[in-house]
This record gives sequence, C-alpha cells and structure tokens, in this order.
Amino acid sequence: MSAAGVIIGAAVDRDARGLVELRRAILEEAAWFTAEAGEVPDDVRLRTDRMREARRSGNQVHLVARIGGDLVGAVAVEGGRLRRVRHVGRLEIMVGRAWRGRGIGAALLEAALASSRMHPALEKVELAVYAHNARALSLYQRYGFVEEGRRIRQQRLADGSYADEVWMARWLRPLSG
Ligand SMILES: CC(C)(COP(=O)(O)OP(=O)(O)OC[C@H]1O[C@@H](n2cnc3c(N)ncnc32)[C@H](O)[C@@H]1OP(=O)(O)O)[C@@H](O)C(=O)NCCC(=O)NCCS
Repeated sequence: MSAAGVIIGAAVDRDARGLVELRRAILEEAAWFTAEAGEVPDDVRLRTDRMREARRSGNQVHLVARIGGDLVGAVAVEGGRLRRVRHVGRLEIMVGRAWRGRGIGAALLEAALASSRMHPALEKVELAVYAHNARALSLYQRYGFVEEGRRIRQQRLADGSYADEVWMARWLRPLSG
C-alpha cells in the first residue's frame, strides 16, 4: 500500500460507528456530496444492516482504510439491484479531512477496483462527481475513469450557487465483442 501505515480491509460490523461518524463529518463540509448533513437517515443500525446486505449481495464491495485504531476512509461499490443494471457498480469514496492528500484515496480506489473484479457480476464502475472537485477528478482520471456526460447546474448549493455534475465510468475488464 502506498500510503504509510494504512491498512485497507473489508468493512465489518464493528466499523459501522466509525463509518457513520466519517460520513457525518464529510457531509458537514457541505462541499462534495448531494446529501446535506442530517438529510438522509444514517445510524449504526442502518449502516450495519447495509453492510450485511452487501456481504450477501454478490455485487457490492465495502472497504475501509484504517490507521492504527482510526477509521480514516471508506469506499463502496454498489451494483444495481435490478437485473439490467446488476453489472454496473456505483462508486462512493471518502477520506477524512485530516488524512487527505497522502495517497489514502488512491489506495482505497485501487483496492475497490481489485475487489470489484472478483465479483463476476460487476463489469463497470460509475460515479458522479462535482466539476469543482479537482482532487477527486484527478484521482479518478489516474485510475482510468473517463467522462460519460455532464449535467449542467444539476445541484443548487446552500449559498445559491450551482454545481455541474460529471458522470465518469470505467470498465473492470477489457471489453469483448
Ligand atoms: C477525493 C478523495 C477521496 C481523495 O482522497 P485522497 O486521500 O485525498 O487522495 P490521494 O491523496 O490518494 O490523491 C489525490 C489526488 O489529488 C491530487 N490533489 C491533492 N490535492 C489537490 C488539490 N487541492 N487540487 C487538485 N488535486 C489535488 C493529488 O496530487 C492526487 O493526484 P495524483 O494522483 O494525480 O497525484 C478525498 O479527497 C475526499 O474524501 N474528499 C472529500 C469527499 C469526496 O470528494 N469524495 C468523492 C466525491 S465524488
């Protein structure tokens, strides 16, 4: 792993609290995700149920990054629930503010792509990112994601400004046929 001292592993039930706290802190930054803090229900019980469902699903990956005892980042790839989109996984990644810019996001993304390849049902990974999120865009491009489309002024932020949303994707294996 490139980031010193970081251990990436599958999310387990006892990570639920750390995940809820990490997500809450990142939503409070109000800069990177659609949901605003407190807008979407999220607690330890819901998070635990979601991880258990993920383990049963066959097309979901939930990983966390730990440094010592701290949960410092997480990534999820969730395949579609309906048959026609089961092969497409939606990626969401986050690293705690104090830990950014040290290669943890790259380590998480690399591990998520490797784990996704182990699920035969998953073929494509997609994501949506704000056009102003330079750090995330740079990371996704480095790992082979390409822009598939852009939704202009798709989100209206609390200060009244608008954000464009960029849709990116990459295939997990070479395309055949
Ligand atoms: C996006 C995120 C997951 C990246 O994790 P990270 O640990 O900071 O990423 P890394 O350190 O592995 O790499 C970040 C990349 O951004 C670059 N970078 C760092 N600071 C930057 C900045 N201010 N502007 C542009 N690029 C920057 C790094 O050089 C690196 O690019 P490279 O791989 O081409 O060298 C993390 O910043 C984060 O959680 N942000 C808030 C939540 C978020 O935006 N999630 C994604 C929503 S789509």
